[in-house]
This record gives sequence, structure tokens and C-alpha cells, in this order.
Amino acid sequence: MLFNAYLRCGADDLGLISQHSIDDVIRANDIVDVVSRYVRLEKKSGINLFGLCPFHDEKTPSFSVVPSKQIFYCFGCHKGGNVIKFIQEIEHLSYPEAIRLLADQAGVVLDEDESDGQWKIKRERRQQALAALLEAGRYYYSMLESQEGRSARDYLARRGVDRVIYRTFGLGFAPDRWDDLFQHLKSKGFDESAMTDAGLIRRSIKDTWIDFFRGRVMFPVIDAQGRILAFGGRRIGDDGPKYINSPETLVYQKGKHLFGWPQAQRARSEEMIVVEGYMDVIALARADVKNAVAPLGTALTPYQAQLLGRTARRVLILFDSDRAGTEAALRAHEILRQAKVSVRFVLLDGAKDPDDYLNRFGKGRLVAALAESLDVTGYRLALLEQEQKEIPLLPVNETRNRALSVLAEEPDGVTREIYARRLGERWRLSPKTILEEVERRRTQRRDDDKMNAKAEGYRDSRLPKGEMRLRQRQLQIQKSEENHAINLLALLVTTPSLIKEQPRIDEAMLEGFSISSSVRNMLLSENTRMPLQQADFSPGVLRKLASSVIDSANEGTLTTATFLSRVDQLDVQREYTETELDAQRDDTGTEEDDIAEDIELLRRMFLRAIRTFDKMRMNTEKKRRLYKRELMTMRAERWENNASILNDRGYEMEISGQKENANRVYSKAAELIMAAQIMRTILQGEQ
Ligand code: UTP
Ligand code: MN
Repeated sequence: MLFNAYLRCGADDLGLISQHSIDDVIRANDIVDVVSRYVRLEKKSGINLFGLCPFHDEKTPSFSVVPSKQIFYCFGCHKGGNVIKFIQEIEHLSYPEAIRLLADQAGVVLDEDESDGQWKIKRERRQQALAALLEAGRYYYSMLESQEGRSARDYLARRGVDRVIYRTFGLGFAPDRWDDLFQHLKSKGFDESAMTDAGLIRRSIKDTWIDFFRGRVMFPVIDAQGRILAFGGRRIGDDGPKYINSPETLVYQKGKHLFGWPQAQRARSEEMIVVEGYMDVIALARADVKNAVAPLGTALTPYQAQLLGRTARRVLILFDSDRAGTEAALRAHEILRQAKVSVRFVLLDGAKDPDDYLNRFGKGRLVAALAESLDVTGYRLALLEQEQKEIPLLPVNETRNRALSVLAEEPDGVTREIYARRLGERWRLSPKTILEEVERRRTQRRDDDKMNAKAEGYRDSRLPKGEMRLRQRQLQIQKSEENHAINLLALLVTTPSLIKEQPRIDEAMLEGFSISSSVRNMLLSENTRMPLQQADFSPGVLRKLASSVIDSANEGTLTTATFLSRVDQLDVQREYTETELDAQRDDTGTEEDDIAEDIELLRRMFLRAIRTFDKMRMNTEKKRRLYKRELMTMRAERWENNASILNDRGYEMEISGQKENANRVYSKAAELIMAAQIMRTILQGEQ
């Protein structure tokens, strides 16, 4: 099952596979065994087995296997067939590829036409590589048992690894000599290409073949079928990197396998424990916990997550307790969550990793720690608590603040309440206060998400790619403009007299910049220096709103109440559609709802901005400065956007042969960018 990638790159040509070969393959692959590698099957009643369908999303099992007929059938999605069909579907293979995969796994030799040479050669190479790896595993093992393996045995003994354990995992020893394995494999009839395909040897600086692993304790990576695919080698002394791992080869992709996989399968547990390293798997085995696996020197991949999800109901993440470990744990959680695997965490207190924990506190406490698992929110809160303990100077309110944000991310209301109670006890606050703050943050987060979703909203549309990117850029621009606009209008509402403010740019400020007269003129022009205008806003709801706000500010009639009623009137007017973007949208059915929602969002964003300005208790001078900044930034951004539009237009002209016009447009764009940059520089100087 793990080799589909190679099969898929193998030629799609099918020599003619004889019917009796196909029958052999079906006979040699019991459907229950094959399906069980992907689906957890249970006997519900009678003779059929049931499990969660791997082909569609479901919560109650409707996927059945009928052993007597050697077929599968899903009552939910109605997929069904024999073992070949199952492999085709689950591994996304063609019919002949599925047959070959099954034949390979069961050791059936297909009786087929010689014409598909490519595929055969590749399979041959793979088999040779696997044979070399198996022989290497044997060799390393015998070395560990030999006279020479003394240092390695002592090392393992010091770390509490006994013979039973190292036999279970097939550990070994690569002697500290240049080409022992190479010579050994040669004597067994393997050629160099098989050894390089297996990742066991490499070219030395002296241009000779040398062993890849030297002077290390060896950890074989074994797949579900018991084949050795690769090795990890741990140094015994202090020389070189702690671990060296096999390179990716014809038979090995590190993101697709897990250390300890076949051993853990034998434990037949509903739960799989994922740890960080080889030695952690071994440590758990020492404590008689046999259902542990580790990724192979990389972060957990989506593929590995799927693999875990297929055989386990739940995954327990037990990573190192240092920062790198806890961060990796949260990333692994994210990957597993996306693969719809349920996850819990164990946070080890007082030790670096499971191995360390076992050595310090013993088996009993390690097993007890495993039973005290946490959900993701509990884990994150525990991490914060631990950090607070470890860094005494960390401000308590900072930790509290972060804990509240963690709680706000918990989707389940009951869980939120449970943790709110616990935090309440610790902080001497009522759970109600905590939950109220958490709710506030949740609302805020939803608004932010909506804004982001809006900027990304066209991703799924059916527009061609280039156009989509353009659309996204426009939306980003729109979003940034929206932010400035909202700040400006909200500031105006709190302090209407700001409407008289003008950007201050004068000759003296431009001294020292080497700029052309047209850039100078642009910066000093009436347009740049006038107070906020309707024209500063792009056509659309905001411009509508802005124009009435500007008018009433000038008239001296602007208040928060009149402002909010203006916002509500927008809802009635519904003239948002005049914006270019919306006019181009094709799902007109939901447009009205979208507008209503947009306006509601806008309303909330205004309220939030107004509240923020209130809270900051800015004096008028501060507000004035902020207002001017926003105004100047908005104008600078407008120039930059115009420049990028001009650049696009120039490019169009250029490719249609209007070189001169193109150059004129390009230089106009360059002027705009220059002016915008100077505007920003002036702003910085004022800070
Ligand atoms: P650790 O450093 O935690 O190793 O790295 P460990 O397994 O606990 O081993 P000991 O107890 O220190 O001997 C975790 C995993 O990261 C990969 C290995 O897969 C290791 O098991 N790793 C680490 C490397 O690939 N190379 C390294 O140099 C170090
Ligand atoms: Mn470790």
C-alpha cells in the first residue's frame, strides 16, 4: 500500500495480464486483510464486517465487507467491488496498477507479456534495493550481537534498552569502519546500483564507495509488510550529528512512513501515540506501552496523519516539553485535525521527553501521565501556566490575556465554560466575567475572519487564474483603503472639527529630495493638500457614507447618532452594486444578503474604531496627528494603486507595439510612485 507512488510513476502500459494471474492475485489477497490496512473493521452482527467508509465522510459505519463473497460495499456512497476495485479506489490506481500492487504484496508472480519493460525494470530495482536493505538489517543486527558490538550494547544497556526491546525493533550496529557493509553486501552478490538505490552506500571524497552509516546504533524503518525501507543511525560517542537518516530512495519517502509502525499495529490498540523520536518509541516500549510511533526526523505530514486516522480512533501527541516540542505538537495537531483525526495531548512535567521521564520517574508515573491527556485548549492553557511558572517576571495580565484568546478559539461552548470556571478559580474572577470577555473576542474574531474572507473571496470563483490574482489584489487594495477610510470617518465622528485639517506639505519639506518638477507639483498641488474629500474614496458604500459625513461635519451637525443612522440608511439604499467588482459578480442571487451583511460588518467596524479611539483617550492633538497620517497615507496609496494600473496599461501598449505611448505611461507611473514614496517619507519624519 505504501508503494503506490512508484507504481503511479511506473508506466501505465499494461502488458497483458492473464486471467489466471488475476485470479491468483484475488485469491492471494484476502479482502478483509487488505481492507483492514485502511479501515478499522468491526463485526457488528452475522458474518459481515463494518467500518467507516474511506470514500465518503461519515460518522456511523455504512461500509461493509462480505468475507464469504470477498467483496466490499458501502450503503452510504454505493461504492463496491472486489479487492482489486478497492485498491483502485483507495490508492487511485488504474486496474493493472492495482493488480500489480496486490501481486507485489502477496508475492504473486504475474504471468504477463514481456512488452512492458519499463515497469518491470523499476520493480526489479525496487526488489533489489529492498533485498539489500533486508540484508543490511541482518548484518547490522549480527554486528550488534558480535564481539565488536560491545560498545553499542553497552550504550543501549546504559539507556535501559534490553535484548527483548532491540529484537522487537530490529536494532543493530554499524561498525566504525569505512566499507564493511559494502563488502558484506558485495559478497552476498548485490551490485553497487542496488546499494545506492537502497541508500546504503555513498561516494567518498576519494571517489570510492563507502558505507552511509558508520559507528552508529541502527534503527530500521519497517513498513506494515515487514520490509525494511530505511535506517536511522544514532551516534554512540560525541562525533558528528546525533542522528543520520537514510536519504529518500526508490523505496523510501520519509513523509510516508512512521518509525515503530508495524510494532504498534501489533498492539491492536484504538489509540496511537505519536512521539518525536526513535528513542521515545523505545522508551514507551520499555514501559510496556507498545502503540507508539514517531515521524522520521521531519514534521508530521498529512499522509502520516491519514495513515494514523485509518487505524486508530484517536491519536495521543506526546512530544518533547521544550518550546520546539510544544510548537511541533500544535502543528501536528493541526495536520491531524485536517485529516479529521481526533487528538489529545500529554504534557510531561519535569522531564524533557518520554525517555527522560521514564528514567526520572519510572514506569508507573509515565503510564499515569498518559492517562491524563488534555484536549487542545487544555494543552494550550497548561503551556501558558507552565510558562508563567518558569518565567517569574512574565506579567500575569499578559498570560491572562493570552489564555482568554486561547479560550476564545475553543469551538465548543461547554468546554469553554469548563475552562472558564477553572481559570476563574485561579484568577479569582467569576466565570461569567471570563466568558463575557471570551464572547467579545469571538465576535471580534468572526469580524476579522469575514474581512479576510472577503479579500480572498474570489479564490473559488471560476475566473481564469491571472484574472483571479488581479481580483485578489484589487480586493486587498480595497481592504486597506477601507481601513484608512474607517479610521478617518470614525475620527471625524468623535471630533468633527478635524474636517478642516489639511496635509501639510510645503517647499521646505521637499528640500533635499532630488525630484522632477512634475513630482514636486503633484506633491504641492491643491488636490494633495486639500481637506478630506468625497473623491478620496472609491465609488461604493463608503463613498456614499463619506460624502454625507463630510457634509455634516462641515455643517457642524455630525454626531455619533446621526452617523449611525446614515450607516443604516445605506442598507436601504443598497447602492453598493455600482462598484465595479460587484457588478461583475455573477451569483446575483445572494447579492442582497451580502450587501446587508457587508453593511452590518461595516457598522461593527465603525463602532469598534470609535470605541478604540475613545478608550485610547487621545487628546485632540493626538487625534489630529493620526487623522492627518491616515489622510496622507490614503492619498499615497491611491497614487501607488494608480501607478500599478498605469504599469499594466503600459505593458499592454508595449506588447501591442505602441512603444512610445507605453513609455509615456510608464514614466507617469514612476512619478506617482515617487510622489507616494516622498509622502510616506514625510509622514515618517513627522512621527
Ligand atoms: P531527539 O534529539 O529528541 O532524539 O530528536 P531522541 O529520539 O530523543 O534521541 P535521544 O534520546 O536524544 O538519543 C528527535 C528525532 O529527530 C530526529 C530523529 O528522528 C530523532 O529521533 N533527529 C534528531 C535527526 O534526524 N537528526 C538529529 O541530529 C537529531
Ligand atoms: Mn528526544
